[in-house]
Amino acid sequence: MALTNNKLPIFVLWVVVAVAADAKIADFDEYLQKKAAESYEQSLNAFNPNPEDLTDDFNQLVGKTLASENNGTRRNLINEDGCKATNPIDRCWRCDVNWAKNRKKLAECAAGFGYKTTGGKDGRYYIVTDPSDDNVEEPRPGTLRHAVIQKRPLWIVFAHSMVITLRQELILTSNKTIDGRGVLVHIANGAGITLQFVQNVIIHNIWIHNIVPASGGMIRDAADHCGLRTQSDGDALTVFSSNNVWIDHVSLSKATDGLIDVIEGSTAVTISNCKFNHHNDVMLLGAHEESSKDAIMQVTVAFNRFGIGLIQRMPRVRWGFVHVVNNDYSHWELYAIGGSAHPTIISQGNRFRASNYRYTKEVTKRDYAEESEWKNWQWRSEGDLFTNGAYFRESGPPLKHAKSPLTGENLIKFRPGTFVGRLTRTAGALRCRPGRYC
Ligand SMILES: *[C@@H]1O[C@H](CO)[C@@H](O)[C@H](O)[C@H]1NC(C)=O
Ligand SMILES: *[C@@H]1O[C@H](CO)[C@@H](O)[C@H](O)[C@H]1NC(C)=O
Repeated sequence: MALTNNKLPIFVLWVVVAVAADAKIADFDEYLQKKAAESYEQSLNAFNPNPEDLTDDFNQLVGKTLASENNGTRRNLINEDGCKATNPIDRCWRCDVNWAKNRKKLAECAAGFGYKTTGGKDGRYYIVTDPSDDNVEEPRPGTLRHAVIQKRPLWIVFAHSMVITLRQELILTSNKTIDGRGVLVHIANGAGITLQFVQNVIIHNIWIHNIVPASGGMIRDAADHCGLRTQSDGDALTVFSSNNVWIDHVSLSKATDGLIDVIEGSTAVTISNCKFNHHNDVMLLGAHEESSKDAIMQVTVAFNRFGIGLIQRMPRVRWGFVHVVNNDYSHWELYAIGGSAHPTIISQGNRFRASNYRYTKEVTKRDYAEESEWKNWQWRSEGDLFTNGAYFRESGPPLKHAKSPLTGENLIKFRPGTFVGRLTRTAGALRCRPGRYC
């Protein structure tokens, strides 16, 4: 490959090291090296040097939606119109009975760090008709795997409800939307979904569960490239060195490894309206203490429901900047939000319900550092609601709001747990019917 500036050689070195550790690539050929280098450049561009601006914008958006809800519009929306959407992301598209004809409206609805994600908006529809996954080297037309390896942008929908059991990791290319609205699509009992060195992907309205490791081998990861991969770990969804990713209304449970990993220099990611159940390591944002490239990681975790049977990592963060806003947490078995390697964690307007066990009341957990060190990490809680003894141990400098006039108002909006219940009521994959509000 042509090395045109002096950033690249260092980067390539890093990639080779990372490949050995995590990338599941057995043959890191020229095609993949080029993709990795391009993706990292794009991640650097997607990184926001002033993340507080964005968290404030996000809060303003939630505040506005709730204000209009409490002002007559709400009665209107819920009783007269029948649209149950309560948070700004949902309100962007769910109050349209013709959502099935206007599917690409969704591409305008991302908020938080992944707000630029438009997925396959500029492409044609691809209709998946065949749930099988027999041939991962030459995927059959009509299968999900055939759809996701195409080089052009695509908006992928499903002809009917189906259970797709992936024989190997499903490796997506850039500029794709997987849109499971209107049908019930389960990715289950096989391998998970991998986004590696890609940009601009929406994953929406599917169920992903019972994900197990797959053996690896030759897997087609683009129409013009097939590569040798090592065994996968059994993660439900992996975002690896990728950017502009939006995961919305996905129900996730039971995987051998994590439910969602965002790792190795990924950024501009929003995880919203998802439902998580029955799992140990829920969400890993940054995989290694020494992966300093995760300093550019910026992730919004909003309106999700962390339900029963979860143990830890909701999320667990290294290095980056994570905005955890208006999520509903109940009964974590070890801790809810944790991290190491000095990440910034801004927790706002969440509802934290501790379990009855007296030793797991603390929301937070810091690893591999003495208090003398972690006291400088910025972990801040604002407007969170704590019940059953839950508490958040704050550290680091207080939040500075770039747009301070909005802060007070937003704090009031976030305060009561009743709001979080309402904001997250329909988290997870939805059962939408064409011609009705979703
Ligand atoms: C309520 O609605 C009125 C007019 O419809 C508007 O002027 C006012 O600002 C709204 N209040 C809030 C809190 O949004
Ligand atoms: C994705 O779409 C954008 C905008 O159309 C384009 O610039 C980019 O090259 C596409 N990426 C790939 C890998 O095709």
